[in-house]
Amino acid sequence: MQLLDGKKLAAEMKLEIASEVAQFKAEGGKNPHLATILVGHDGASETYVSGKIKACAEVGIKSTLVRFEDNIVEKDLMEKIRELNNDADIDGLIVQLPLPVHISEQNITEAIDIRKDVDGFHPMNIGRMVIGMPSYISATPAGILEIIKRYNISTSGKTCVVVGRSNIVGKPISILLSRKGYPGDATVVVCHSKTQNLKDVTIQADILIAALGQPEFIKADMVKEGAVVIDVGITRIRSELTKSGWKLLGDVKFDEVAPKCSYITPVPGGVGLLTVIALLKNTVLSAKRIIYP
Ligand code: GUN
Repeated sequence: MQLLDGKKLAAEMKLEIASEVAQFKAEGGKNPHLATILVGHDGASETYVSGKIKACAEVGIKSTLVRFEDNIVEKDLMEKIRELNNDADIDGLIVQLPLPVHISEQNITEAIDIRKDVDGFHPMNIGRMVIGMPSYISATPAGILEIIKRYNISTSGKTCVVVGRSNIVGKPISILLSRKGYPGDATVVVCHSKTQNLKDVTIQADILIAALGQPEFIKADMVKEGAVVIDVGITRIRSELTKSGWKLLGDVKFDEVAPKCSYITPVPGGVGLLTVIALLKNTVLSAKRIIYP
């Protein structure tokens, strides 16, 4: 069994992005610039956003944080998005989710200029991804692809079972792994809460992607000997054994599943660490006008 080490990959990729940004600037390119809108004070969102800002600084990407209180009305948020859409210095624009319930996430997502949609959440970018046109690929599926590529995991003709059909993970990764080329050309099966005899399906998987958000749901008897297991779940639970009082659990019962695998991602230290890298890469792609020339 080999660990798919997200921490090591993320560190490597940050160095690569930093040197790409430095070279772009040295050749007269602009300083890539990411704008993040954060509404309210949700603890997890604060953590994610500060991680994104720190990562930008580490690779030489400029970042701007725009904060609003959670009583902001949709119209005012839209106005800010329009302003940032029209600001030529901003290459990437993201609105941290979730938003307060009185604001439509769909309306907000669709208001972002597709050329600056480095989260890849706009229906236009998702649609372009589905039909194989250049598009921004969102952070988690992009992170999974990166792990597969960097560890040279073969996907062609493999049976890939995705557990979970969310718009931000299950759906896009199932499409990406079934498309032509590498990583892709896999036979993909998507499972969800209505799947019958789930274990009979997951046991077929050469590559098993767990993205359902239920801690330690995937047990050893659901996994084929020699499978590649990619765990996308991150659930925070109370723990008396850690200094912080919290611990993170994946969707896979790691201790019993790991011995059966050829490769497995740990949680924490797996896919999660690569998501911010995907955001940095997309911001650089935008500054270089690669997806939308
Ligand atoms: N909330 C949780 N993950 C994400 C993400 O990748 N992007 C945004 N904008 N919000 C999130």
